[in-house]
Amino acid sequence: VTILRAGAGEAPYDILLGPLDEAGPRLTALSRGRALPLVTDAHVFALHGDRLKALVAVEPILVPEGEAAKHWDVLAQLLGDFSRLDVTRDTPIIAFGGGSIGDVAGLAASLFKRGCPIVHIPTTLLALADSAIGGKTAIDWDNQKNLVGTFHQPSLVIADSALLDTLDARQLRAGYAEIVKYGLIDDLAFFAWCEANGAALIAGDQTLRHAAIEHCIAAKLRLVAGDIEDRSGARAQLNLGHSFAHAIESASGLGALLHGEAVAIGLCLAFGFSVELGLCRVADETRVARHLALIGLPTRLDEIGLSGRGDDLLDAIRRDKKAGPEGIALVLARGIGQAEIFRAIDPRRLAQFLAEAV
Ligand SMILES: NC(=O)c1ccc[n+]([C@@H]2O[C@H](COP(=O)([O-])OP(=O)(O)OC[C@H]3O[C@@H](n4cnc5c(N)ncnc54)[C@H](O)[C@@H]3O)[C@@H](O)[C@H]2O)c1
Ligand SMILES: [Zn+2]
Repeated sequence: VTILRAGAGEAPYDILLGPLDEAGPRLTALSRGRALPLVTDAHVFALHGDRLKALVAVEPILVPEGEAAKHWDVLAQLLGDFSRLDVTRDTPIIAFGGGSIGDVAGLAASLFKRGCPIVHIPTTLLALADSAIGGKTAIDWDNQKNLVGTFHQPSLVIADSALLDTLDARQLRAGYAEIVKYGLIDDLAFFAWCEANGAALIAGDQTLRHAAIEHCIAAKLRLVAGDIEDRSGARAQLNLGHSFAHAIESASGLGALLHGEAVAIGLCLAFGFSVELGLCRVADETRVARHLALIGLPTRLDEIGLSGRGDDLLDAIRRDKKAGPEGIALVLARGIGQAEIFRAIDPRRLAQFLAEAV
């Protein structure tokens, strides 16, 4: 087991990279003899619940699969269940599943009695490499992604890439889009690594999966460290492609596309608009789209029936959390590995770009 330490903020936490079974003593110590509330879905629980139950006593709380978990009613259900189970302020809640479960369980944990500890045991590539780290929690509201949420850092993250053996190829590819994002933000060498190894990673290579997850976790810890609450701009780079992605998810109906699929197109649009503004070379845009397409991810709006919906996309981007008093803010790129936040984006140029984007 490799232990990474998230050092920033008031409450540092450990990330255990390695077999779930070896995390038994840590879970037992946290549980202090009581059964821990375990937020998961029926699919994940059926596949991997026994391994967890063998380590620590749990009280399973099942929520819907996928994006549907990030719903007000599910949040309310969780709070009711915590109350029924007599959860105290120091009872750790376990989130066992993909990013959607981590997001809603994290939010419920942060609200219940003004905050209980949350332990993330991510089971998707996306959650292992990205969403279990950093402490953002959310549900969707008013057809907008992550509109309601908090910052609530985990007490412990257990990252076992072997759990991915049961994940289907579509989910793996979607998670991989977030992995590529880390190369595009500030790490050209890692993007080149992805070009060389991405296909084998998706196909099942354990060593490559583990390496990519460890690399992305370390990168996320570094990007989040100076800007825990996403205010000063360092952390904002993690949103590369995401203003577009969230707009795509809203326009196609939340849950219709996988988040990572929307991110793949969003990354291409971010590079496309960067080229349009003269920030970035066409060759870099082409290289990004070529790699994502090779993996089998969507890279164009027309692949998902959203070309010609520029107005809807612009509308959603205007309501994005990054928008501030100066207007629309977007993370764009001067090249692969050179993401930057740009504020006061000219809405007419963005409207034109979105109207013509295919
Ligand atoms: N908080 C953050 O920082 C952050 C970062 C990135 C993404 N997100 C959010 O994460 C969500 C996407 O998460 P996701 O991509 O993990 O998908 P998900 O959680 O929405 O769905 C995962 C699906 O895969 C299944 N599954 C999970 N683990 C499995 C396994 N090991 N074997 C077989 N099936 C398994 C689940 O039953 C579910 O159907 C989005 O809502 C996105 O906004 C949050
Ligand atoms: Zn994302």
